[in-house]
Amino acid sequence: TVVFLNGRFINEDEAMISPFDRGFTFGEGVYEVCISVGGKIIDLEEHLARLDRSLNAAGITLPPERSLMPGLMHDLLERNGIKNGFIYIQVTPGKTVRNFIASPTERSTLLMSTGPTPLEESNAYKHGMRVQVIPDIRWGRRDIKTTMLMPQVMAKRAALDAGFDDVIFYDDLGITEGSSSNVFMVTNEGELVTRPVSHQILSGCTRNTVIELTEQNGMTVTERPITRDDLLQAKEIFLTSSTYLVVPVVELELDGKSKIYSCEKTKKIQNIYMEYLNK
Ligand code: PDD
Repeated sequence: TVVFLNGRFINEDEAMISPFDRGFTFGEGVYEVCISVGGKIIDLEEHLARLDRSLNAAGITLPPERSLMPGLMHDLLERNGIKNGFIYIQVTPGKTVRNFIASPTERSTLLMSTGPTPLEESNAYKHGMRVQVIPDIRWGRRDIKTTMLMPQVMAKRAALDAGFDDVIFYDDLGITEGSSSNVFMVTNEGELVTRPVSHQILSGCTRNTVIELTEQNGMTVTERPITRDDLLQAKEIFLTSSTYLVVPVVELELDGKSKIYSCEKTKKIQNIYMEYLNK
């Protein structure tokens, strides 16, 4: 597969990143994952705007190709023969001496790659997920889409080992988000709820689009904190992300209690979102 690295399209086997790249030595880096549906990149501007916000918050200089990225992303998809798939973008500060505070590098490292994705063919999309609710052990700037993903990897691995598909995190205010997704619930009264954005969660592009689309379809989304008890009382729960799209949570485990959920409204929202993707 062809990747785009620091200004060039090259074969993945020829791509080289310095061992002194701060993405490697300090875990300094931010990323984006977008999907392409029939060659159209979904919410492209929103993803790139969030990349800019992450870079700015992390104090990483924009890569010199920043303004050309939309074209380069489409070009990369074409070179890899991908119409339905994902595009991964990672930016790190580049290479410096190993010093916490080092003077600016020659250039930020920009890597872009692509891959296939099952989208609505995934098992989770069709049949839903079984999810464990666990404490959020991440840092206090979860609005930055950082490549420091050890907590998420550890949480997902432990959940899989315990027979679940994924996790939902909670902090002192209640539910934060999934390990790589945002959380919505439908209450018994039919109210659609998700947590407001802050430094504590990622402002998901799919989340934001789902809010817009549901409102266009006559539903209202209330943005307020969701407690763990709210989750246990809820009628439906679903997760959103660029790769999950809209995925129903069919079973949840929380403090040793477990609950089964229906997904009527979730299926409706899946259909609305799918229409948006294929528009
Ligand atoms: N993750 N919250 C977290 C912590 C995430 O990592 C993601 C996405 C989301 C959803 O954001 P969006 O709707 O913009 O994809 C929420 C990507 C898919 C990943 O890490 O692979």
